[in-house]
Amino acid sequence: MTIFADMITLEDIRKPVTAELAAFDEFVERQFTAEGELLSDMLRYALSSRGKGIRPTLVMLSAAMNAPVKGASLGRRASLAAMLVEMIHVASLIHDDVIDEADTRRGKPSVNARWQSHKAVILGDYILARNMNIGLQSGQFDLVTHVCGSMAALCEGEILQDDCAANRLMSRTTYLDIIYKKTASLLGVSASAGALAVGTTRDKVSTMRRFGEALGMAFQIQDDILDYTPRNHAGKPACNDLCEGKITLPLLTVLEKAPEPRRAELLDLLGRCHEDAASVERLRAAVETEGGLQTAAEVMHGYITRAVEMLSDYEDSEYRSALVNLCAYVAERDR
Ligand code: FPP
Ligand code: MG
Repeated sequence: MTIFADMITLEDIRKPVTAELAAFDEFVERQFTAEGELLSDMLRYALSSRGKGIRPTLVMLSAAMNAPVKGASLGRRASLAAMLVEMIHVASLIHDDVIDEADTRRGKPSVNARWQSHKAVILGDYILARNMNIGLQSGQFDLVTHVCGSMAALCEGEILQDDCAANRLMSRTTYLDIIYKKTASLLGVSASAGALAVGTTRDKVSTMRRFGEALGMAFQIQDDILDYTPRNHAGKPACNDLCEGKITLPLLTVLEKAPEPRRAELLDLLGRCHEDAASVERLRAAVETEGGLQTAAEVMHGYITRAVEMLSDYEDSEYRSALVNLCAYVAERDR
């Protein structure tokens, strides 16, 4: 099976489920409303600055590929599943920006920058509360249970990450645990919720979960690699993770191979990154020249291969091809 084609775009990947994604947008528009002018404004802002929509796309492609009868992915259950995962994601980023004191998200002011942190916290809570409400009122308890089970994992990942950054301590096992919890679990739940929504077998729901989880591991590792990489053409790398004291896979692989004095030196540099741009640049350059980005990319490709293998039991279809392309997109994306 060939994995990599040239320049795959998300638009191409979404194409087979255009109608499903339109139904999902309409579902959210209709269901996700707020009381009061301020809360409505904030909610509208949060929903209109949503990102690439990878999770809803994953839900719908999985629903369509697993549908026992054609058209099942156009039903209300698939839209509900996509809403449940996407809103957990939206709320978690609003809270993440409060925690990281981030002023921008996707080039626009973050909710906390625009309305202050305390309101952003409440907006995130409100989105989670509405999500749960809409889910429970729909009576589709299997989907609500399945998707909302991942919320605790997100919190566990975030706390563990924070604790590790504060102590400048990291191991390969802990890193993988963090990215599993903060990212892979929700992508696993997205892929499997799509399958569950259309009523396929338990085995297939479980295969889709493992597919989504492997894709999610690769997605977060690529995110961590991109943090070290220059933005756009002329831009500088963000190196936000180093500034926040986070040890992600590129630095971790360098630390793993470094002899003790060098390791201490690198960790000392990391300790200075919070307020010293020169230390950030020295550490970034060390990670690059000592092969950290390349080793991390190899690990990422291992997860991509694993994800693609999960699809081998499915017969060829435009949905399966789109999921294979999504794997390639995640591995190759530069933003
Ligand atoms: C973004 O990662 C953040 C996450 C994937 C998870 C954040 C989770 C929480 C704040 C816990 C709250 C949970 C719920 C259910 C509301 P990143 O910081 O690596 O990426 P970024 O560069 O986009 O900020
Ligand atoms: Mg963040």
